[in-house]
Amino acid sequence: MAEESLTDEFYEQAKKSLRQRLAPQRYEHSLSVSDMAVRLARAYGVDERKARLAGLLHDWDKDYSDDDARMRARELGVQTNPVVLESMPRLLHGPTAALDLARAYPEIGDDVLQAIARHTSAEVGMTDLDMVVYTADAIEPLRPFDGMAAVRERIGQVSLEELFLATFQHVIAFLVEKKRRMHPDTVNVWNYYVERSRDVRKKPRKAEQKKGSK
Ligand SMILES: [Fe+2]
Ligand SMILES: [Fe+2]
Repeated sequence: MAEESLTDEFYEQAKKSLRQRLAPQRYEHSLSVSDMAVRLARAYGVDERKARLAGLLHDWDKDYSDDDARMRARELGVQTNPVVLESMPRLLHGPTAALDLARAYPEIGDDVLQAIARHTSAEVGMTDLDMVVYTADAIEPLRPFDGMAAVRERIGQVSLEELFLATFQHVIAFLVEKKRRMHPDTVNVWNYYVERSRDVRKKPRKAEQKKGSK
């Protein structure tokens, strides 16, 4: 059962396994993401135990070489755009981690695995847990990501979706600035959340207009 994977014992065991898989710096990043995921979960009413576990394990597969990542994706049956498989194998580590962890630890819940799978490129229709893990990964304080200190200051002051969108915006800006390639679905995710943020802003204005027109 998923509950078994949410205990302190399981978390400590997962830490030990992770430490053997990752370079020290990435292990430290994972602990920091886990802490930040708990902070976000607390601020936004998300299950803290799920957030800490997904945060801890999100980079489970990050230390594979490009060739090994491709091989792993094929072996585990990752369903992805062929362009990603061929030319952006670094983006495979979320989906392969989720499939490998499901195999290694069947007690981990699907919601935790999904958050891990989606942390690399995000998707349309993220759950709150998905957004917590994606955001925590980018804004944890050990990561030298421009603009994220400002995002951290808004924790609890804006909605989780706004915080996620602000984070996603910084990530895209960073990729453009550094002339890096993007996951082909990134534009869809961006359009989806920008549209939703417009809808949220429009609603109160409509209500005001109604009031005024009476
Ligand atoms: Fe990652
Ligand atoms: Fe990460």
